[in-house]
Amino acid sequence: MGERIDIMLDEEEVNEKIKELGKKISHDYAGKEVYMVCILKGASFFACELAKRITVPVYLDFMSVSSYGNEAKSSGVVKIIKDLDAPLEGRNVIIVEDIIDTGNTLSYLVDTLRQRNPESIALCTLLDKPDRRVTDISVDYTGFQIPDEFVVGYGLDYGQKYRNLPYIGIVHID
Ligand code: IMP
Ligand code: MG
Repeated sequence: MGERIDIMLDEEEVNEKIKELGKKISHDYAGKEVYMVCILKGASFFACELAKRITVPVYLDFMSVSSYGNEAKSSGVVKIIKDLDAPLEGRNVIIVEDIIDTGNTLSYLVDTLRQRNPESIALCTLLDKPDRRVTDISVDYTGFQIPDEFVVGYGLDYGQKYRNLPYIGIVHID
């Protein structure tokens, strides 16, 4: 069984949007430092490009999480595989995600990280599939709202494949 990938958002559109988000964040955090929490692995490409576009000081940290149980269906119970390197006390945290689908992963993460007493906490996602949301979660910075399609590229995978595509594509199973 093979897959076909159709381009949904090309490289230039994605890069332009990241530039815009970087500008907005730089403006909103003027005079402050940003503690960027990148959720591995999917958000890594986006987080690195975004960090390059932010003009205030950026600390980059990584966290790896996995949902328990069936991978295809987000359960809302999240296990921390790799935790952050430093405490968040007094930090202006921005959680950077590749995509928000049901919202379960992020809503768990926000609750967990809030308990570490950051000065502030914001959410930034490259993609948002609002149709699939089951939790009430407010996103501060969104790249693109997309329809309910399975997408890959720019860090997003299908069975660990296609993360390295420089664009966002829709997966069609043949
Ligand atoms: P949520 O907890 O349902 O919001 O799950 C979000 C996570 O599911 C993302 O961080 C991705 O790892 C994965 N995911 C959701 N939709 C897609 C998709 O279209 N392509 C690739 N991964 C996806
Ligand atoms: Mg992810």
